[in-house]
Amino acid sequence: MIFKLSEEQKNVVQAARDFAQTYLLPEVIERDEEQRFPTEEIRKMGEMGFMGMLVSPKYGGGGMDTLSYVLALREIAKIDASAAVCMSVNNSLVCWVLESYGSEHIKSKYLIPLASAQAIGAFCLSEPESGSDATAQHTTAIEQEDHFLLNGTKNWITNGNTASYYVVIAQSNPEKKYKGINAFLVEKSWEGVVVGKKENKMGIRGSDTHSIMFQNVRVPKENLIGESGKGFNYAMEILNGGRIGIAAQALGIAEGAYELSLAYSKQRKAFGEAICNHQAIRFKLADMATRIEASYLLCLQAAQKRQAGEDFSKEAAMAKIFSSETAMWTTTEAVQIHGGYGYVKEYHVERLMRDAKITQIYEGTSEIQRLVISRAILGK
Ligand code: CAA
Repeated sequence: MIFKLSEEQKNVVQAARDFAQTYLLPEVIERDEEQRFPTEEIRKMGEMGFMGMLVSPKYGGGGMDTLSYVLALREIAKIDASAAVCMSVNNSLVCWVLESYGSEHIKSKYLIPLASAQAIGAFCLSEPESGSDATAQHTTAIEQEDHFLLNGTKNWITNGNTASYYVVIAQSNPEKKYKGINAFLVEKSWEGVVVGKKENKMGIRGSDTHSIMFQNVRVPKENLIGESGKGFNYAMEILNGGRIGIAAQALGIAEGAYELSLAYSKQRKAFGEAICNHQAIRFKLADMATRIEASYLLCLQAAQKRQAGEDFSKEAAMAKIFSSETAMWTTTEAVQIHGGYGYVKEYHVERLMRDAKITQIYEGTSEIQRLVISRAILGK
């Protein structure tokens, strides 16, 4: 498959690259160290149209194609993987499902502010005892006369405290197993919504990860997203799209580390010449460039299939697994190329190495991606 970017797509890449250099780079090390969310930077990303890229202009979004989204996300992630995951969650896990399955009430009340980052969204699926086995939902949303009563705890919620609105997956009819699961739009300000502890993470420390407790929260029936009993299917569709976003994030992390390594290897001298002239380093750079190119092509392939309206679940899983493994490997080698300098914060690559690890875990571990791919090849 040949990918030739349009002028519009090239402009999106340039805009995202300029934005990341100007607004994200200056304090990225401090935000990581202080675990500080990039509040002002995300607001600006909203103004630039990066937080609702796929949403139609009717609801305040950019109306852009999936390739543009992937390319922009990669540029943001090259500099700041924490800002990138916030962008990915808002676009892929929240705006997408509201636009695809939400009622007009939900779209006008919630999607419009989310698409411009006047509000931020979060996706609440994982629980203390339900991660990879996502059908095992313990959070319940029991139907009452004019509302659902929501109870339970969600874990590892990206944008957990920053978000104003949560897409919450919960079980309404346990006898029906996953066909009893629903999706809801829940406001953080509602009585009974409690934001739990902030996680002290290895990487993506600028992102805001919390547990969220729902204690007898009355969710109006009009906040049910889509059809009753389809919540698990929506969650799986959401994650197919989300996995393209995380693949793009991982690609950006890998490229960021590669570009820093290339530049460093040209100016660092050892044994009388630049280290890029030593075969030990040249071959690492060659392998990095090759794996990054393959990740890029897998990301664009998944994005293109999605854009064409085809089933892209296998391609998204392939892009995610390959890009996240490339990110982990490339960042580790980047630290090695930098030697002692790679192990300290000023040179960025140690942060990129810590940031890379989560891309093999969230939105479906590498093991879950292999399960998705093998089921697509062999059946269940
Ligand atoms: N795309 C679309 N539909 C899918 C799907 C996919 N990739 N995978 C499963 N489904 C559908 C099936 O078709 C089936 O629907 P129907 O019966 O209506 O046809 C239904 O879902 C149940 O599927 P299975 O019987 O295959 O369910 P399973 O329990 O055997 O396997 C699983 C499901 C694939 C393991 C799933 O639980 C899964 O993807 N787990 C990983 C969860 C995950 O990625 N969590 C990430 C947390 S979110 C996060 O990280 C966000 C963040 O903040 C960054």
